[in-house]
Amino acid sequence: MSRGLQAPRGTFDVQPGDARRRLRLMGIVAEVLGRAGYEPFETPVFEDTDLFARGVGESTDIVQKEMFTFEDKAGRSLTLRPEGTAGVCRAYVEHGMHKLAQPVKLWYWGPFFRHEAPQAGRFRQFTQFGAEAIGSDDPSLDAELILLLREIIDRAGAGPARLRVASLGTPATRAAYLEELTAYLREHERELSDEVRARIDQNPLRAFDADHEGTQRVVAEAPKLLDRLSAEDRQHLDAVLGLLEAAGATYAVDPTLVRGLDYYTRTVFEFESERLGAQAALGGGGRYDRLVEELGGPPTPGVGWAAGVERMLLAAPNDEPAPDARVYIALAKPGQIGDAFALARRLRDDGIRVEVEQAGRSMKGQLKQADRIGARVTVIFGDGIEVKDMDSGQQSGAEGFEETVDKVGEVLDR
Ligand code: HAM
Repeated sequence: MSRGLQAPRGTFDVQPGDARRRLRLMGIVAEVLGRAGYEPFETPVFEDTDLFARGVGESTDIVQKEMFTFEDKAGRSLTLRPEGTAGVCRAYVEHGMHKLAQPVKLWYWGPFFRHEAPQAGRFRQFTQFGAEAIGSDDPSLDAELILLLREIIDRAGAGPARLRVASLGTPATRAAYLEELTAYLREHERELSDEVRARIDQNPLRAFDADHEGTQRVVAEAPKLLDRLSAEDRQHLDAVLGLLEAAGATYAVDPTLVRGLDYYTRTVFEFESERLGAQAALGGGGRYDRLVEELGGPPTPGVGWAAGVERMLLAAPNDEPAPDARVYIALAKPGQIGDAFALARRLRDDGIRVEVEQAGRSMKGQLKQADRIGARVTVIFGDGIEVKDMDSGQQSGAEGFEETVDKVGEVLDR
């Protein structure tokens, strides 16, 4: 025998209990975002590699290390999407969506791929749902999106979650700030951890994430990007924060918030579960006011977020009840499966879950099976039709389908 095959490293099968929880979460997402005017949207699971290199950014970990990239038969370089925003913006440009009423509000749900070291809450194929509002830089959109994600987290039972917010300003502000920060870190080089010191030029912001005590002392006094924002960017951030406060949302302004994608301008934010360990980010996002233009469209601001389905479900209680099969149809004689199908169809039209005997069991075996799947009623097709209440054991005959349907209904109502 050959060695058993397994799902590839960092991937997993979604078994029925989890699959039901995911469907329920998707229902919450569709309802919360749908009622706020966001329309469902889908983009391909793979795109030209160039889209992510340009959109997410050449220097990010995602593009440098984590992409599943392959060549198609014509030698084109394609990449399994590591995130959704670049694809949505590519579609916005491709379909001339700037001609629609702005902002265009979209939401999506689907598989994403990053070649990361797998651990609890971190996979190579994972599922995100996300929302994007493209075509306006109004700070109310940033606030609306943050509040919508908070609502989904609450309704999914994945709270409590901490919300961190910051602003990155414009790329020019950021570039000047990074120079200032780099110079500051150089001045204090000897107090930093080896790791941070080695990467001062590539990624000075990493110093803010360090556990190392000396580094932490240095960054406590370091210049903060928030203090270098232009007046306009500061006003934009204050407007977002004001709306969050007015809505009663608690948040922390965190000038050290680092996001792993290059397209952000102004607002960035992240929700972290208080229940998860190392991989605690439930979802995050921010503004990307230059991305559409960078992808060849007209200058168009945008803002959005994405959240991880697996992490949301890890943080939420696993209290989804298994659905009971409400009605089981047992067959006393061969040749009655057609009638069973017709009755099953009739009951299912009323929204009742119905299963039919399909494994050639004895009558005793069939009643056992009805019990096993938690049937409330068993309908027995024999010389006539019998309707059995599985709780009381009471059984009574029925003439024809309509009476059977009535009697089944009576038992289910008990
Ligand atoms: P992101 O922060 O890279 O943002 O991912 C969003 C969420 O996806 C994370 O908070 C996490 O819950 C989940 N996630 C990411 N990587 C993994 C993984 N390897 N395993 C499991 N879950 C994961 C974005 O992707 C941006 N596109 C969000 C955005 C939309 N910004 C603006 N619009």
